[in-house]
Amino acid sequence: MRILAIETSCDETALALLEASGGLRAPKFKVIKNLVSSQIEVHRPWGGVVPNLAKREHIKNLPIVFNQISEFQKSKIKIDLLAVTVGPGLEPALWTGVEFAKELKKNIFPKVPLIGANHLEGHLYSFLLAKKTEFPKTKIFPAIALIVSGGHTILLRMDSLIKWKKLGETRDDAVGEAFDKAARILGLPYPGGPEIQKLAANGNPEAVAFPRPMIYDNSPTGKYEFSFSGLKTSVLYYLRDNPKADKANVAASFQKAAVDVLISKTARAVREFKAKSVMLSGGVAANAYLRDRLREASDKMGVNFLVPPMDFNTDNAVMIAAAAYIQNLRKKKYAIRAQGNLNL
Ligand code: KG4
Ligand code: ZN
Repeated sequence: MRILAIETSCDETALALLEASGGLRAPKFKVIKNLVSSQIEVHRPWGGVVPNLAKREHIKNLPIVFNQISEFQKSKIKIDLLAVTVGPGLEPALWTGVEFAKELKKNIFPKVPLIGANHLEGHLYSFLLAKKTEFPKTKIFPAIALIVSGGHTILLRMDSLIKWKKLGETRDDAVGEAFDKAARILGLPYPGGPEIQKLAANGNPEAVAFPRPMIYDNSPTGKYEFSFSGLKTSVLYYLRDNPKADKANVAASFQKAAVDVLISKTARAVREFKAKSVMLSGGVAANAYLRDRLREASDKMGVNFLVPPMDFNTDNAVMIAAAAYIQNLRKKKYAIRAQGNLNL
């Protein structure tokens, strides 16, 4: 079936056209068109995403991006399913996508079903977009999935493609948020994650002994939980006390501290649940250091390491179309309205 998906939960206006087949046992996806209009330049002067600016930009960009898809298709777009991210995310931003989807349904695709999609399910299923995927050839479940983005840090046990249990999440800042805030403290532009990665490449990760929050917490309530706000504050205090510090060393040490915690908790879950795979997704999954370390750790434990192709780590609508396909097969429904706090 052909799916048109819309994603506007944060600062990317994204539309995608995807051909999906294979059902729940062997889902397969072919990307026909993947468009992402980034607002980075608009938000950069503010050092982060400004919700009302995001809303304004989405409203401006949605028809432009939709026209690009129409022009690419030449004749009238034929689809079987229309999907839009309903949450989680910034409510004013989500609202624009939802309203645009309703307009499309009313005026252009009156006979096509419109479904709401969960942004986190999009990240979770993005491993299915890899050209060479282990699934369904190899037994991959149970799997431990780590979702790391600007808004979330979640560890899940997946027992099948449609059954999972959340093991833990962050108690304060998401890891992507910590990267962005640490970058700001270091005087780097928004978004900070890729900037920290670049700077860290020339630094010594052992230079500064930053804390690894909750890494030794083995309590039932804490063993799969995270906390990154203290780590960011440590960067602030360190630079205040050592204004002449080598920033590359600070970036590399910060990155290692954050990644150490992510790896340690993921490995703990793999051992406890005898998992066969590790899945990594979300914007921070674009971080080469994290990917390499988690791949290494997975190899060492003898489990599969599943990660989306580079284009599908940060926000995009292809992953939303994939999540919508699976959700539609399950007949799972989300209300078609902006739901900023929607969870997994
Ligand atoms: O999934 P995403 O695009 O949006 C949300 O759902 O939040 O994730 C964005 C986050 C930002 O915090 C950004 O700094 C981070 O992903 N990020 C990175 C890298 N690329 C993006 N963090 C570390 N290293 C990267 N290379
Ligand atoms: Zn995201």
